[in-house]
Amino acid sequence: MKIVPLRTGAQMPMIGLGTWKLVGQEAFDATRSALQCGYRHIDCAPIYGNECDVGRAFAATIKSGMIQRAQLWVTSKLWNDCHRPEHVRPALEKTLADLELNYLDLYLMHWPVAHEHGVLRPENGKGFLSLSDAPLVDTWMAMVEARNRGLCRAVGVSNFSVKKIAQLIDATGEVPAVDQVECHPLLQQPTLMDYCRANQIVMTAYSPLGSADRPDAMKRVDEPALLQHPLIDAISKRLDINPAQVLIAWGVARGTPVIPKSANPKRQRENLAAADIELAADDLRAIDQLDRGYRFVDGTFWEQPGGPYTVTDLWDEA
Ligand code: A2P
Repeated sequence: MKIVPLRTGAQMPMIGLGTWKLVGQEAFDATRSALQCGYRHIDCAPIYGNECDVGRAFAATIKSGMIQRAQLWVTSKLWNDCHRPEHVRPALEKTLADLELNYLDLYLMHWPVAHEHGVLRPENGKGFLSLSDAPLVDTWMAMVEARNRGLCRAVGVSNFSVKKIAQLIDATGEVPAVDQVECHPLLQQPTLMDYCRANQIVMTAYSPLGSADRPDAMKRVDEPALLQHPLIDAISKRLDINPAQVLIAWGVARGTPVIPKSANPKRQRENLAAADIELAADDLRAIDQLDRGYRFVDGTFWEQPGGPYTVTDLWDEA
C-alpha cells in the first residue's frame, strides 16, 4: 500500500475506507470486509452515527489475529457541538470508547463551525455558536493538548480554508498535520493544495467519487454525475478499468490520500487496487482540465436564518 508521510513522521496509507453513510450492521460488515481485503486506513466520525459498529469490526479483526492495532490507521473527528475546550477531551474519549481503541492516529476538527453543546444538527440559527463565542484557536489548542496527552498521535482539520489554517498557525505555532476536504476532478482545490504542500500539510480528499448516495436534502436536482462523466468514462473504457478507479488513481497521482466509501466488498477491492494504477500524463492533464470549483458538499446547511455562518465566510471564497 502506498503511504504518505505526515509532518509528525507517521505514515498514512493513501487509500482509506470512508465510513460516512454506512449504517449499523452495514458499517460493521463494510469495515470488516475492508480490513479483510487489505485496507489499513479507516476514516470515521461520531456524527456518522456508526462508531460503535466500526469499533466492533476493529475489535473482532484484531481479536482474530488478522491485524494488530499498530498496523491500522484510524482517523476520527471532533463534532461541532464539542468545540468548547472543556468538551474536546470527553468527546475524544467517547470516540475512543466507541471505536474500542486507546488512541487515534489522527483527530480532525470536522468543520470550522460550532454548535451549542448537545445540538448535533441545528434546526435554526439559534443552535449555533459564533466563532467569537467559540474561537477555532481555543478548540485547536484543546486538541493539541489531547494529542500531548497521547489520546491521538496527530491533529488536523477538515473543511478549512487557507485563511483559517493560517489563523491557527499564526496564533499557536501548531501546524495541522492534515486538512481533509472535498476533492475530485470537478473540485481540485489548487490554491489549498499549493498552500498545504508549502506548509507540509497533507490534503486528504473526501467524496472522491462524488458521494451520490448522500441524503437528498444535501443534493441539487441538476448536480453532475461524476462517475458518469464522459471523459472519466472514456478513459476507464480505454484502460479497461472502472470510472471509480480513474478518479482514485488521479487523486493518488496528485499525492492526496483518497477515502472512497463503499459498502460493497467487490467495489472496496477495486477502489483499493486503484492506488496501483498509473494514469498516463496525457490522461492526467485532460482530467486536470475538468476543474470547475463544484462542491457536492457545499456547506449551505450551515447557513441558516438568524445564524452566524454564511457559505462565503465558510469557504473564504468570493
Ligand atoms: P456503494 O457503497 O454501494 O459501493 P464517495 O466515496 O464519494 O462518498 O462515494 C460513495 C458512493 O460511490 C456510494 O454510493 C458507493 O456505493 C459508490 N461507489 C463506491 N465505490 C464504487 C465503485 N468502485 N464503482 C461505483 N460506485 C462506487
